[in-house]
Amino acid sequence: MPADTTLINKHMDQFANHQQLWVFGYGSLIFKVDFPYIDRRAARIHGWARRFWQGSHDHRGTPGAPGRVVTLVPQDGAVCEGVAYLVTQDVLDHLDYREKNGYLRVVEDMTFDDGSHAQGLAYIATADNAAYLGPAPEEEIARQIADSIGPSGTNRDYLLKLADALRELSEHDAHVFAIERHLLALEGK
Ligand code: SIN
Repeated sequence: MPADTTLINKHMDQFANHQQLWVFGYGSLIFKVDFPYIDRRAARIHGWARRFWQGSHDHRGTPGAPGRVVTLVPQDGAVCEGVAYLVTQDVLDHLDYREKNGYLRVVEDMTFDDGSHAQGLAYIATADNAAYLGPAPEEEIARQIADSIGPSGTNRDYLLKLADALRELSEHDAHVFAIERHLLALEGK
């Protein structure tokens, strides 16, 4: 898979004839909303677990010193809490560019708090992309995050904002919160 997934995503046009579609965010898309939306709702998808296993060359690190950001990995019985945005087609151009470092559009069924469902897109970076880093001990992940910075800011800021956003959703994500604890301990907090 090329390092830049923008072109691949342009061909993943399952919702091309829809004026509006749902996009599910589980990482920075929860806390950094730099696009217009029609509706925003807490939502969840099933069978995926959030993990800091994706390298970031373009936002929270550099190609020579990648940061770590979240992707989703398949896991039976897992539920991933996040936020769904109802957007117009043109927003996908912006999101394809923003998520170009390994993320692919994947069609997912999302469940809202009232029990209703909708099909939509999630941006997921699979293990075969060039920036993928994979698993590591959570303390080691925290150390890498503490040391990383890229054009969008510090990797630390990404982690702490995501952890805060998950608390706001009343979501206890043991992996994210463990890495946050390690990071704060490294900083003597
Ligand atoms: C997402 O937030 O849904 C994708 C991963 C990221 O940009 O952090």
